[in-house]
Amino acid sequence: MSTTSTRGRPSPPGMPPPPAGEFFDETQWAVLLAVLDAVVPSIMAATDVKDGMAQQGIPDGEFSALVERTQTCMVEPPSAQSLKAYLADRPSADPGYVTAVRRTLSTVPDGARRKLGGVLSALSTRPGSLLLTGYLTPIQDQPVHIREAILQSWGASWFGTPRVLFKTFTLLGKAAWLHSSSLFKQVTGYPDVPHNWASDGVAQDFAFIQFSDAHAANDAHADGLPPAVLDTDVVIVGSGCGGGVCAKILADAGHRVLVVDKGYYFPPSQLPMPQDQAAHHLYENQGAINSVDGSVTAVAGSCWGGGGTVNWSVSLQTQGYVRREWAEDHGLPFFETAEFQHCLDRVCAFMGVSDASVRQSHRGRVLLDGSRKLGWHAKACPQNSGGGEHWCGHCHLGCGSGEKQGPAVSWLPAAAKKGARFVEGFAVDKVLWDDGTSSSSGVKRATGIVGTWTSRNASGGVGGRVEDRRTRKVVVHAKKVIISSGSLNSPLVLMRSGLTNPHIGRNLHLHPVNFVGAYYEEDVRPWEGGIITSVNTSYENLDGKGHGVKLEGTCMLPYAFLSSMPWQSGLDYKMAALRYRHLSGFISLVRDRDTGSVFPNPITGKPSIDYTPSAFDAAHILDGVVALAKICYITGATEIRAFLPGVKPFIRETTLNNSEKEGSASKVDPGITDAAFTAWLAHVRAVGNQPPYAPFVTAHQMGTCRMSSHAGAGVVDPRGRVWGARGLFVADASVFPSASGVNPMVTNMAIADWIARGVAGELKGDM
Ligand SMILES: Cc1cc2nc3c(=O)[nH]c(=O)nc-3n(C[C@H](O)[C@H](O)[C@H](O)COP(=O)(O)OP(=O)(O)OC[C@H]3O[C@@H](n4cnc5c(N)ncnc54)[C@H](O)[C@@H]3O)c2cc1C
Ligand SMILES: *[C@@H]1O[C@H](CO)[C@@H](O)[C@H](O)[C@H]1NC(C)=O
Ligand SMILES: *[C@@H]1O[C@H](CO)[C@@H](O)[C@H](O)[C@H]1NC(C)=O
Ligand SMILES: *[C@@H]1O[C@H](CO)[C@@H](O)[C@H](O)[C@H]1NC(C)=O
Repeated sequence: MSTTSTRGRPSPPGMPPPPAGEFFDETQWAVLLAVLDAVVPSIMAATDVKDGMAQQGIPDGEFSALVERTQTCMVEPPSAQSLKAYLADRPSADPGYVTAVRRTLSTVPDGARRKLGGVLSALSTRPGSLLLTGYLTPIQDQPVHIREAILQSWGASWFGTPRVLFKTFTLLGKAAWLHSSSLFKQVTGYPDVPHNWASDGVAQDFAFIQFSDAHAANDAHADGLPPAVLDTDVVIVGSGCGGGVCAKILADAGHRVLVVDKGYYFPPSQLPMPQDQAAHHLYENQGAINSVDGSVTAVAGSCWGGGGTVNWSVSLQTQGYVRREWAEDHGLPFFETAEFQHCLDRVCAFMGVSDASVRQSHRGRVLLDGSRKLGWHAKACPQNSGGGEHWCGHCHLGCGSGEKQGPAVSWLPAAAKKGARFVEGFAVDKVLWDDGTSSSSGVKRATGIVGTWTSRNASGGVGGRVEDRRTRKVVVHAKKVIISSGSLNSPLVLMRSGLTNPHIGRNLHLHPVNFVGAYYEEDVRPWEGGIITSVNTSYENLDGKGHGVKLEGTCMLPYAFLSSMPWQSGLDYKMAALRYRHLSGFISLVRDRDTGSVFPNPITGKPSIDYTPSAFDAAHILDGVVALAKICYITGATEIRAFLPGVKPFIRETTLNNSEKEGSASKVDPGITDAAFTAWLAHVRAVGNQPPYAPFVTAHQMGTCRMSSHAGAGVVDPRGRVWGARGLFVADASVFPSASGVNPMVTNMAIADWIARGVAGELKGDM
């Protein structure tokens, strides 16, 4: 192992060139960019407008008032000149923006993209335009303020199609802009690299196995090459939270362990990455998978260390009421045993989970103070930062400090010390079987896995064209196979392996969230500090059966947060983004009772998600949104935004100053009973959070290979063995019998600990 200590900046790994974008023709691209330019338009004083088509003018007086107000309401406001440049900027003039749009569209499933292409073509014609916009003039020939008005009318429509178009276009426009705009960073002060960044993290030497005789990816003969063959006791598919724990335990027990992952390892010196590169290299499907109906956006880690490399360090143990449900309703008594508690304690002790040194971020403090002021109860959130204070704020983009004890930092290196071996860039296709005839039971036995390995590029990086890298088919023979590919991919591996149990892929729980954002007068600097440092649990049991919400702070990186902020107009959005520095963000995270499913996309084979938040669960999330707004109000927020389309921001009347308060002793501070605020809360409830229009986001996928007490009720048995197969296990968040309620990592690791010990026991018996 080599130690690096680099002060200065991380060296990001770079990106493959963007896709050519040939999925749309020239007209479709022109229409798309014309619509997107209206999401984040070029805005200036009316007298400065030179191009009435592309530039949006506002009355001179209003414009200068706007500029002036910015100077007084922001700490370290941008100069009038850079503010004007920021407002005047037109995204589509920036090649980086167009690239970001292309990259996003290339990750959209074929069918959905073709539908969008059809809409774009229709918009470019007079009849289509009349139908969709009410104007005969095609949208790309309209001035930007009309395009903006058309977007607004779609958002307010009574019909489903325009509202879905509104969500699609505004989301795409906001996200691509936040990924690419350098002016945004300039005016808000958001840094790509945390203040005082230093890579003190140890670069782990995983000694990844290479297959030197691999053929070039574009070599037609590569398929004819015999596969490379490896042999081991246990092969683990996935290096994330479940896989990492299994690797350490089985290597400790003296077995030969091989861990493979389709993602790549990035040392601390390359972390955190800029937002677009992180999305590309660290996440499944380049950062986002939208559910079939577009209601939920799923975020899942895919890199060496899996979700553990990007998670936000919240380390909560499984709560009693969930353990009771799993034991009593699912017939799995293990979850109420002291043994399960030992598993939880062991993984927490290994990662140094503690709330002792958690330093509260602004939003963490707001949750604690606000809860106290409302007579509620909240607590600091334990973190897996090895007992040390962790303040980087950029963990979502990978952690350069190495303080966060993710699998790539803790579990996998510990396994390496005990002789475990590793392959990165290895996408597993399926499990290999004997045919069952060799066993008296006739049940087929897993004998290994097969998949495709893709090398790094010639200089050892992952930038450049993927086609220039080398691939090789690889077979691994193993006594035991553990699938730890996460809740989106583990069921797909099982399906591709020929298993037909109908429970595989079902029972998907997501913990979907809605957001609340609140502006404060003080300098919040939301990009700094621990991501989630406190949690309010008062609403976690709203139905008496353990379903309800947790209120937490959230990741405040620009694209992760601001892309969900509802768009009302170009000016409003640009001005709201400008004040990002004063913004604190929160989530209402539901323990979902109702479920969806995961299935392979028929063309690409990638995971698709069928999930719509149920009315029951969405109502709980909305209760949490209202509670969060109260917390923001009572802690002095000057403006509160529920991230729900159609909900207006709450703007606090200028507060009474101290001398006014003294002079009006008879006046009682109304707190959350303030009439204007109460009226606004009623407005929030009336508009609501109806899917698919409201933005729901999930980073917690669970349950798609659920554990059950008997075959026919789930996918794995109480020791993680796949029903109806021998030698095959699943150990990740997909085996949860239902939603964990708490952020799932610790529960996941504890169950993996239990399953891995069982595998070790079986192997001993085998010897
Ligand atoms: C941004 C973010 C923040 C989070 N924050 C928290 C938090 O603060 N606290 C918390 O408790 N939880 C958090 N979570 C959730 C937590 O990270 C996940 O629940 C957990 O990582 C799931 O672990 P897993 O073992 O199921 O799979 P993962 O950790 O997702 O690992 C699966 C791995 O399998 C690999 N893989 C998939 N398919 C294949 C294949 N065919 N071949 C080879 N490899 C494959 C993937 O590349 C991936 O690396 C967060 C998640 C995200 C995305
Ligand atoms: C959560 O917040 C609510 C309202 O803000 C409060 O009543 C409640 O006590 C808080 N609960 C916890 C656990 O903090
Ligand atoms: C390999 O990737 C690195 C970045 O990770 C990049 O700098 C380099 O140019 C790439 N090399 C080739 C040959 O593409
Ligand atoms: C407080 O309000 C009073 C009455 O409106 C006003 O005269 C005074 O200047 C204000 N003080 C400050 C510090 O704003």
